[in-house]
Amino acid sequence: MKVVEHTRRPIRVEPPVSRLIVTIDGPAGTGKSSVARALAGRLGLDFLDTGAMYRAAAAIVIDHGLDRLDESAVVEAVDRAGLHFDWTTDPPTLRSEGRSCMERLRESDVTSIVSPVAGLPRLRELLVLQQRRIGREHPRLVTEGRDQGSVVFPDAEVKFYLDASPAVRAVRRAEQLRGMGHPADPARLEAEIRARDRSDSSRTVGPLVRPAGAIVVDTSNMTFDGVVAELERLVRSRLAAAS
Ligand code: DC
Repeated sequence: MKVVEHTRRPIRVEPPVSRLIVTIDGPAGTGKSSVARALAGRLGLDFLDTGAMYRAAAAIVIDHGLDRLDESAVVEAVDRAGLHFDWTTDPPTLRSEGRSCMERLRESDVTSIVSPVAGLPRLRELLVLQQRRIGREHPRLVTEGRDQGSVVFPDAEVKFYLDASPAVRAVRRAEQLRGMGHPADPARLEAEIRARDRSDSSRTVGPLVRPAGAIVVDTSNMTFDGVVAELERLVRSRLAAAS
């Protein structure tokens, strides 16, 4: 799935709505982030990458030398870091401890511990509250993650669940990493993706699930543009049906 840079071309949502929350959940490597960002641009909505918030928490654990199992210390440090987005950039820039942490989030040490960190129940509680607050402040939003339609915004107007085979997802992740100048081995990435799926799906709090009422889209054989166009079509037809 080739990721194409979309120019920001806000097309008004018709009929105009004051609240439109679109959730996109699914496993790693389905292209969720890029799709969500492009969809937000096409619909003129804001874009929230909640994986970035869990990645920022993992970076804080590493950079502060914390024990990732020490839930109180992790929650306290993340709370103190004052995570927030700068909405003036596209995509919005996540800031932690007063500076952008965007570069740090995709580094391999962060990726290797983010899933267990994201499994800490009290950390999830904190970040879910922050995400709901963002939803109140930005009620025209495309938000992507693992639990957006199931836990954070169960009353979202439109919910999607994106899926793709692990092999396809590994190739996409490899392309993404290489594009950022990082080395990538698809076989190793596929093993990591399978392990992360197991961990994300089996945790007790906020597991990766297909939310009730979600539209499931298997992107394995779709182009990036095809996925974005299909999701845009589905959102617009939902809105038209609801009006
Ligand atoms: O989408 P991503 O690869 O940036 O997500 C990073 C990690 O955070 C991944 O292990 C899943 C987890 N995550 C989560 O548990 N809940 C979310 N809402 C978003 C991400």
